[in-house]
Amino acid sequence: MSARAERYLAEIGITVYKRRGFVAEPERAPTAPAEPSPAARSAAEPLPAVETPQAWERLAAEVRSCTLCGLHKTRTQTVFGVGRRDAELLVIGEAPGADEDRQGEPFVGRAGQLLNAMLRAIGLPRSEVYIANILKCRPPGNRDPQPEEAGLCTPYLSRQIALVNPRAILAVGRISAQWLLQTDSPIGRLRGRVFQYGTSGTPLVVTYHPAYLLRSPLQKATAWTDLCMVRELLRKQA
Ligand code: URA
Repeated sequence: MSARAERYLAEIGITVYKRRGFVAEPERAPTAPAEPSPAARSAAEPLPAVETPQAWERLAAEVRSCTLCGLHKTRTQTVFGVGRRDAELLVIGEAPGADEDRQGEPFVGRAGQLLNAMLRAIGLPRSEVYIANILKCRPPGNRDPQPEEAGLCTPYLSRQIALVNPRAILAVGRISAQWLLQTDSPIGRLRGRVFQYGTSGTPLVVTYHPAYLLRSPLQKATAWTDLCMVRELLRKQA
């Protein structure tokens, strides 16, 4: 591991212990078939990509003026997504929180700072990835998204996925992972493996939500193995 990666890990709160013969990272990301049935797989399955600035602008405008569910009544503003439109990695979270609702950008609060540090640790600064959420509006009181809300919002995410056309998807947190994979499996069973997402079969890795990691720092080392898996996937495809 490079000194830089060690520095970033220290910043996140992970201490690297070096032992002879100890392999800190999986050498190859294990692959596993998606657990959910193919029929249930396509919650946010991408549409064919139309990579034009106009398509992005049209989509952003639709999201800005969306009133499909009740969340438009309580939002300050919509939170569309941020980052490189041709990113190799698409990070998908759950929904905006209070900070995101105020600033109009995903993952800008404390959890966002940790997410940024985790991404930096695998050599992907925030500016190099695309970040979006299942929901584009904040659920009041930070409650979990309701399935109807996620269902109504998902076509927007599907279009973002199609436009970015990433090499890999990182689903952060239980809600994001369960919705994208259309499963009730606990996150502990979903993380640590590679799913094939949608008709394109885009590799999808699940990891813990950074807000959870802030509450449970001992799980950071586990999340680190998920991120290493993403890094390997991207390396293999380079
Ligand atoms: N948590 C999320 O899942 N998304 C955000 O944008 C912020 C916090």
